[in-house]
Amino acid sequence: MRKKIMELVNEYFAMGGEMQQNIDEMLKAIEYLGDRKFDNFVELGSAYGGSLWIYSNTLCTKNANIIAVDSRHDPSLVYTVNKLKELGKNIKFIIESTNATRNAINQVKFDIDLLHIDANHSYESTKKDYEMWGAKVKKGGVILFHDAVLHTGVKQFMKELGNKVHIIESESKMKLGSQGIPTTKCGIGVLIK
Ligand SMILES: C[S@@+](CC[C@H](N)C(=O)[O-])C[C@H]1O[C@@H](n2cnc3c(N)ncnc32)[C@H](O)[C@@H]1O
Repeated sequence: MRKKIMELVNEYFAMGGEMQQNIDEMLKAIEYLGDRKFDNFVELGSAYGGSLWIYSNTLCTKNANIIAVDSRHDPSLVYTVNKLKELGKNIKFIIESTNATRNAINQVKFDIDLLHIDANHSYESTKKDYEMWGAKVKKGGVILFHDAVLHTGVKQFMKELGNKVHIIESESKMKLGSQGIPTTKCGIGVLIK
């Protein structure tokens, strides 16, 4: 799996993307989920498409329904979305706030089985994303929280969730982004509903 992920990461960098993840943590999160594959994936906060690319290609079924929500319209993300379409994914990019209105969530016509929360990292927004979007996650579905140890707001919310959430972290100094900036420990919270 590590080899496949590194290939996907390099492929993504070759597409001109920026990865905002500690890759070792992503790998551990994927391993933690074992053989599970998801049909209905929503990502809140996709930026340039880094985690969207990796999770869609490792955790999702071939013809999965995927939705990326970001308030910013970035051409790299559009490119990543189109590449995923070419691979058979039924993917849509919604340019909206995740939680200021219900405009985004009202466009999701399926029950989510994998939700990645990585938009606004304040405590209030993380909690709102969890409450609003978590309600659309089916029982047994998975919710991932990025920056579970790096960002104060997310960290505070993880504390509130207590032992419902499993925190994955890594001290690995693998490179982040095509410019090779060393990663810090970000932390991925995994909650199985
Ligand atoms: C940390 S980045 C996401 C990184 C991405 N998941 C990755 O791993 O490459 C956060 C993104 O969330 C978006 N964002 C922040 N607050 C938002 C909100 N309330 N609604 C929608 N998007 C938001 C930002 O525009 C930014 O692109």
